[in-house]
Amino acid sequence: MLVAENLGHAFQATTVLSGVGVEVRAGEAVALVGPSGSGKTTLLYCLAGLLRPDRGKVSFQGKDIGAMGDAQRSELRQRSFGFVFQSAELVPELTLRENVSLPLELQKIRSGERSRRVGALLERLGLAEHAGKRPAKVSGGQAQRAAVARAVVHRPAVVFADEPTGALDRANGDVVVDVLWELAREQGTAIVMVTHDRGLASRADRTVELLDGRVVAEAP
Ligand SMILES: Nc1ncnc2c1ncn2[C@@H]1O[C@H](COP(=O)(O)OP(=O)(O)OP(=O)(O)O)[C@@H](O)[C@H]1O
Ligand SMILES: [Mg+2]
Repeated sequence: MLVAENLGHAFQATTVLSGVGVEVRAGEAVALVGPSGSGKTTLLYCLAGLLRPDRGKVSFQGKDIGAMGDAQRSELRQRSFGFVFQSAELVPELTLRENVSLPLELQKIRSGERSRRVGALLERLGLAEHAGKRPAKVSGGQAQRAAVARAVVHRPAVVFADEPTGALDRANGDVVVDVLWELAREQGTAIVMVTHDRGLASRADRTVELLDGRVVAEAP
């Protein structure tokens, strides 16, 4: 479904990705691992169409993402992708409910359907009583659960997660990953997750290990 071929990228004189190929099948969970600076985030951004690699090609459902215009690529991201970063990065002026609703509004889903889906998801994530609060008024774990809800509410084909538990303690991190995993599985959403956590990586269908911008190991 998502295929990267022979990706190469450099920031100034530093080569960050070199000859990288990755394939993500529909509904599959892929973990990107490797030491700090090995190129994991750069690869994730290339796969998600957030960064255009200097070399190589990324295709989603057979279409070359690099050949799309900015508007087309950004529509693809809105419709087919979801994102969870290390910190929740919710819109501070909006309540949790409004934040989670945003992807559905962008896709012009009717308000009745929107509130039904958002309500069910918030309930499921244990956020119902916090739905009317702004991000600053909830805990880091609660905000990150809302970020997970926002990433999956529009039933994307792929959720990209860059160390989604990096800012949380163990217990909260486990909850966040469990719900992300469970929801993605139910919906048939693929997961591409950068993680330093071996335990987390072992739950993925496949692990891609980077070192100095190259894939050095790939394990099922
Ligand atoms: N915008 C940028 N400008 C310049 N150099 C960058 C930029 N982004 C990343 N780099 C460099 O590219 C290399 C790979 O960075 P990247 O963020 O992909 O690594 P990473 O594997 O995600 O590391 P970490 O585990 O620390 O997040 C690093 O040497 C980094 O300093
Ligand atoms: Mg990174």
